[in-house]
Amino acid sequence: KLEDLKAKIIIEYETAPSAESLQWLTKEQTHGKEYPYLFSQCQAIHARSLLPCQDTPFVKTTYTAKVSAPRELTVLMSALQVGEPKPSADPLYLTHEFNQKIAIPSYLIAIVAGNIQSKELGPRSRVWSERAFLELAATDFADTEQMLATAEKICGDYVWGRYDILVLPPSFPYGGMENPCLTFVTPTLLTGDKSLADVIAHEITHSWTGNLVTNKNFEHFWLNEGFTRFIERKIVGRLGGEARRQFSSHLGWSELIDCVKALGPNNPLTQLVVDLRGVDPEDAFSRVPYEKGSNFLYFLEQKVGGAEIFERFLKIYIADFAHKSIDTEVFKTYFIDYFSRTGKHIEISDIDWDSWLLTPGMPIIKPDYDTSLLDPCIALKDRWDAWDPEKEPCPFELKKDLGNLDPNQIVEFLNQLIASEEPFTPAKAQALNSTYKLKDSVNTEILFRWIRLACKAELADELPLALDFVTKHGRMKFIQPIYRDLHKWEAAPLLRQQLKYFLSHGRSPGEMIAFGIIQRRLHADIEIQGMSIQPEINTSKFQSYLQESISLVISCWSWQLFPDIVNSNCVLCKNGILFEGSVATDGQPYNGMLSPKTIPVPPPDPNPTRSL
Ligand code: BES
Ligand code: ZN
Repeated sequence: KLEDLKAKIIIEYETAPSAESLQWLTKEQTHGKEYPYLFSQCQAIHARSLLPCQDTPFVKTTYTAKVSAPRELTVLMSALQVGEPKPSADPLYLTHEFNQKIAIPSYLIAIVAGNIQSKELGPRSRVWSERAFLELAATDFADTEQMLATAEKICGDYVWGRYDILVLPPSFPYGGMENPCLTFVTPTLLTGDKSLADVIAHEITHSWTGNLVTNKNFEHFWLNEGFTRFIERKIVGRLGGEARRQFSSHLGWSELIDCVKALGPNNPLTQLVVDLRGVDPEDAFSRVPYEKGSNFLYFLEQKVGGAEIFERFLKIYIADFAHKSIDTEVFKTYFIDYFSRTGKHIEISDIDWDSWLLTPGMPIIKPDYDTSLLDPCIALKDRWDAWDPEKEPCPFELKKDLGNLDPNQIVEFLNQLIASEEPFTPAKAQALNSTYKLKDSVNTEILFRWIRLACKAELADELPLALDFVTKHGRMKFIQPIYRDLHKWEAAPLLRQQLKYFLSHGRSPGEMIAFGIIQRRLHADIEIQGMSIQPEINTSKFQSYLQESISLVISCWSWQLFPDIVNSNCVLCKNGILFEGSVATDGQPYNGMLSPKTIPVPPPDPNPTRSL
């Protein structure tokens, strides 16, 4: 019998310095400047560059790992630590052991090595960061246990043991990443006033929607992100008040409008379920799975009679599909079946599934979110729009205008100004900054919007700040719009310099991903023909120090070899490991197979003044 034919396959492998899941930072690139730093980002499809694996969320595995690293460095993974670090053959190294006993998709494998410390947050949580940020991080994430407990009430028991948080250096490309047992977050969440901690509620929620119930491929990404956004907002509502949940939902709706406008209302990528054949999931990444998804669930919740009824369903849905990877059809069938059995067949009979799931553009139904927190933001923006600096002295005052707004409302006020059709002159921009001291804000969300407004007003004095910002930060949500603004602005020659700087400064492969995406989205007409997208690998001391000394042995115990995937063809190549030509047996494409990864050369820009 087939089941009796058990075999153990041992693959010896080595990753390459250019593995795109990894960022190798020099000690100069860290805050402490004493030790180098390594971190990974495997979602969506970069795990294949770290280790040989079936790099699709359709397949789940447990893993154990032994990592040897120089004594001074702390090593953590998306798993539980096994015992204390042990001496290794070389007295300068320690060996760290990890075990992830719950089967996870490959995109959740994660590692960090650096000079980091920790501070306790709660009974099952601590925060890790470079020493300088530790206190601030502990303040901002102080509500972690409350969030976990609230999430458990909605979703069921937390099964991962620990929930720790790692604050990364600023080049981390996302706000947060739900690596099991150890969420990774950007340092731009740190403000000292907890105002950006919603991201923690989001990543905590992935412990169920995403990490237990997983999208079977990234065409059904909304099953991860839409559900998570929807439940994250429930947590925010329960801990911070319903008005905050409504405000967050409203902001999500506005972001969706902007996103659909930018992509085009007929763009198939604005469908909730997308066709990713031949498309890198990261090129399809947008607010759509998050916000259309969250809105769809909000709609379904109302349809079946409200939160209490829907949450009963949600808990059972999670319990039934935990440890599995599913697609939208599975959810739909389960939903219809559940609510038909509980007597709601009439209520759910007119749900237009195709229009929600497969039609591009904005959702057919706009929910009525409460606008009590939004109204003051709009009122303040209207006053700024109405003010004519040529005719009237500046009527604005910091305390009077912003004193009653929380930081997220200030952010929304700035969003409104950025989006406003009214002219935004340099005089207005200068008055805005000198009145509200935006540039001095410790909140990166505010600084980022100041830079966008400076670009809008074409304030040449702020160009160095903008370039400095995109060089320092890697969070794509921030750097992509600023690159776009700079591109629009006649600051193009400077941008060209900046892009060249990126290509020539031996950036980490992980950073090149962000850069590649931005470049493709801008259709930047930069001379890339003949120029390799791979960064020149910097072979300075730090790299050999880390790359040779961190030896990573990950053994994956339960790859479901072969039942779901056929034609797996593992190719060991210079840049890591790629799986080629794999097709799931259900006929679904094995998304995002890119081998080797290339950047399409954009057509020449017809408008030469705007070309780079
Ligand atoms: N899993 C995502 C991050 C991600 C998505 C990484 C796709 C790679 C590919 C994470 O949970 C997330 O959604 N982060 C958001 C924050 C959230 C509050 C919307 C982010 O980084 O902005
Ligand atoms: Zn998410």
